Amino acid sequence: MNVLFFSSKVYDSTFFNAANKSHQHKLSYLEVPLNKNTAVLANGYGAVCIFVNDTANAEVLRLLAEQGVKLIALRCAGFNNVDLGAAAELGMKVVRVPAYSPYSVAEHTLALILTLNRKTHRAYNRVKEGNFALNGLMGFDLNGKTVGLIGLGKIGLVTAKILKGFGCRVLGYDIEKRGEFDEIGIEFTDLSSLYANSDIISLHCPLTPQTHHIIKKETIAQMKPGVMLINTSRGALVDTKAVIAALKSGQIKYLGIDVYEEEADLFFEDLSDRVIQDDVFMRLLSFNNVLITGHQAFFTSNALESIAGITLQNIADFEQGRQLENEVKA
Ligand code: NAI
Repeated sequence: MNVLFFSSKVYDSTFFNAANKSHQHKLSYLEVPLNKNTAVLANGYGAVCIFVNDTANAEVLRLLAEQGVKLIALRCAGFNNVDLGAAAELGMKVVRVPAYSPYSVAEHTLALILTLNRKTHRAYNRVKEGNFALNGLMGFDLNGKTVGLIGLGKIGLVTAKILKGFGCRVLGYDIEKRGEFDEIGIEFTDLSSLYANSDIISLHCPLTPQTHHIIKKETIAQMKPGVMLINTSRGALVDTKAVIAALKSGQIKYLGIDVYEEEADLFFEDLSDRVIQDDVFMRLLSFNNVLITGHQAFFTSNALESIAGITLQNIADFEQGRQLENEVKA
């Protein structure tokens, strides 16, 4: 099938070309993101392959349909950027990669927690300059701390298992209670007691209308003073301005984020010689107890191999009229 990639980087073409050896797709790669100005570039392509910050709202989908596009293949798990209702109305199918490597994101979550706690990023710079002073580097034992996980799906569960290995007490909340939570030793609880009892809170639920700004002024006020907040899921789970106020008051003592509500204008690009216009983001960067990574939690070779293989299989299934195992519907 003729497939046009939007927002593609060298690592995408490397992994997709390798995986395509067992398929016969014709893959073309564009660096530009998908939006209302670029949708026309898909003329003559049966499928487009998009990523987390591409725009696939009703207007863009209509433009794609006019070009002859019949399949939207997401090379990621989240699908909050696609208007599924509009796709259905236009007779377009949407497929995604529901699971690739939950370890990639769960392990990055731990990287954020450990770096914020033990300040290895600051220690690295100090030691390079011959500064071996320990002032300001004091952390705490993770062993015995209570960690609250919101969302106990694939990534949440792997995160819970790792944290149990550190000797943490793990509280968890999800809209659905499943038997495996008990087996892992997660104490299933409601949100208010998770907020009230957790030393660290980490978000692993999808972005939906129900979870939009789940972390806001009112919920932050229910948390333990000095809490550590980690978000590797989606930026808009968190009201950034409310978090900034809580960082200033000390209610939040550490913040680790791999995602940001307005990341589409920033992440995945080298903007080092430009003036960044987002004042909220720049305020976040100014805190020494905030650690930001640019949506890299998924970025392991294992995950990329898996993403490429599953995406190309999704496209082959569509082309050959097979059941679409990884279809997302409204
Ligand atoms: P999953 O679908 O396996 O698990 C999501 C869990 O959240 C499910 O158990 C679901 O019941 C629960 N949930 C849904 N609505 C909820 C609500 N209102 N409150 C609490 N829980 C709720 O998804 P998976 O693979 O664990 O991924 C989780 C999220 O991680 C994705 O939605 C995506 O946004 C994010 N992600 C981030 C990546 C990164 O590179 N930073 C990479 C991959 C995923």
